[in-house]
Amino acid sequence: MLEQVGADLTDVARRRALFAQISSAGHPVLVVTEGLLIYLTREQVAALADDLAAPPSFRWWLLDIASPRLLKMLEKTWGRAVAAGNAPFQFAPAEGTAFFAPHGWREAEFRSRRGRTGEDGERVGAAPSPSFPVLPRLASRRPTSRPPAAAAGRPAPSGSCRRSSGSLCLLPGL
Ligand SMILES: C[S@@+](CC[C@H](N)C(=O)[O-])C[C@H]1O[C@@H](n2cnc3c(N)ncnc32)[C@H](O)[C@@H]1O
Repeated sequence: MLEQVGADLTDVARRRALFAQISSAGHPVLVVTEGLLIYLTREQVAALADDLAAPPSFRWWLLDIASPRLLKMLEKTWGRAVAAGNAPFQFAPAEGTAFFAPHGWREAEFRSRRGRTGEDGERVGAAPSPSFPVLPRLASRRPTSRPPAAAAGRPAPSGSCRRSSGSLCLLPGL
């Protein structure tokens, strides 16, 4: 059974009540926030991460993260439109996925946006999101027709580029 609930996730009381309701069912929970965090402030994401880490049944968190550099690029293309809709891009932590560690989440897997054609020969983001075509979708991993960078004689993306923006899976705990 699929149930949809509308809630402003920056409303602390509302989201805690929602998380408590979900966790009371006693099932393991996969949290997916694709395309959401970029609209929140650093403080709002930190507080949301804290609350998501609290229920023991919240076992996985799939999310995407933008780098400050990607944020600048997105602002150039989409900035005016999202600002007009009162939904400016905000969250792009300079420390990348390390942002989440003090909030109870550790990285299990990271898929770089650059890594769409990266060294593992797999592609993230094969199917563009209809609502936000720029960001990749972890769920739509498909083998790419391009060979891995190393096999093709291309230099692999540098560490900072590879890890600056992408999709990741977090697990609770340190
Ligand atoms: C780019 S869309 C992501 C779409 C989604 N990944 C999908 O495939 O349908 C961003 C979503 O974040 C939601 N959103 C933004 N701020 C929010 C908030 N404070 N609370 C709850 N949802 C929010 C918007 O309503 C929108 O649905």
